[in-house]
Amino acid sequence: MTLGNCLILQDFKSEPFLGWLEVEDGKIKRVVKGRREDIDQPLEGKLVMPALYNTHTHAAMSLLRGVAEDVTFEEWLFGRILPLEERLTEEMVYYGTILAQMEMARNGVVGFADMYFHEDAVARAVADFGLRALLTRGLVDVGGDDGGRLKENLKLYERWNGYDGRILVGLGPHSPYSCSRGYLEKIFDVAKEHDIPVVIHLYETAQERYDLEELLRLGLGEVKVIAAHCVHVPTEKLPLLSKLNFYVSHNPTSNLKLGNGVAPVREMLREGVKVTFGTDGPASNNTLDIFHEMRLASLLQKMKDPSALDVETCLKMATVDGAEALGFEGGAIREGFEADLVVLDLKKPSFFPLKHAKRHLVHAFSGEVFATMVKGRWVYFNGEYPTIDEGEVYKKLAEIEEKLYS
Ligand code: NI
Repeated sequence: MTLGNCLILQDFKSEPFLGWLEVEDGKIKRVVKGRREDIDQPLEGKLVMPALYNTHTHAAMSLLRGVAEDVTFEEWLFGRILPLEERLTEEMVYYGTILAQMEMARNGVVGFADMYFHEDAVARAVADFGLRALLTRGLVDVGGDDGGRLKENLKLYERWNGYDGRILVGLGPHSPYSCSRGYLEKIFDVAKEHDIPVVIHLYETAQERYDLEELLRLGLGEVKVIAAHCVHVPTEKLPLLSKLNFYVSHNPTSNLKLGNGVAPVREMLREGVKVTFGTDGPASNNTLDIFHEMRLASLLQKMKDPSALDVETCLKMATVDGAEALGFEGGAIREGFEADLVVLDLKKPSFFPLKHAKRHLVHAFSGEVFATMVKGRWVYFNGEYPTIDEGEVYKKLAEIEEKLYS
């Protein structure tokens, strides 16, 4: 398939040019400057750019959006969210994850890292809808018993890791405050043995004051880690983290909304720590919009230093670094790369002047993209979802709302 006659932004470093591209077998076959008359998918007035990645969420919490506002993190989690989560069935988690992917595709996101339960249903939803995902079963061992969660996570790995080149499975220790030290050590050992990543919440709240070096001794330093939040990470330890296979998932909206503060992203980047963007679950954000996170993150860091988190840095974090954190090849529209891309409609007031379109991606654009492609397949195109029956999904969601909230 050929598509284009539009502006193409090949990666975060380049500037957009007029061109077209050919996609074959899920890959980008060629990228050509100029116009082509007999094009399969004309995209006049559009911009094609590398897709975005959401490195931390709990996708099915899209079902819990708006249930707990204006409360502390403790009240949010223990008072409101956990009691509702006990009522979520596999089918609910499946449709919650479909809904989350509908929203992410509409926001230009092609891949996400998930931590939740009924994760087999999450995998089926990802297989059906068509995004990419790094899936983990949330692991806790309150009172020394994990209720078979680690076994479940390993089953998920055996069943789904590598599926269609789109699904990867890691391990999901929830946090150092909900996992015993022995349990964490075991999880890191299993991650090492299978060479799979670990997704964990780290230093989210000011109360989290555990010893980073202890975590490293338990094995955190020997595996690939996506650490969500790191708002209260001891900054003197950042040089240590920069030497590891360690990716911060920066979730500025969730951190602000739950009153947890602002992560020291400038300091992290200065010390060479890899930072990516996440939304966290839609019950604490309340959206799954990485364009929004980019802009908010940039503004928050500019509060003290206007040169912080410039446009290219934001785009790099959201595209190439996000893909790398999840374990996918991404972040560039080049020959031989996976055909994962996002199309934006430039006929919007916020894209004028077009000369600065790349800057507008971070500081002016808001709203939905025109189309999103994963592995050469449109998962969202001009208001439509080619991979699902949207009417059926909304019908199921209405039934779920009735069951959960009436
Ligand atoms: Ni989270």
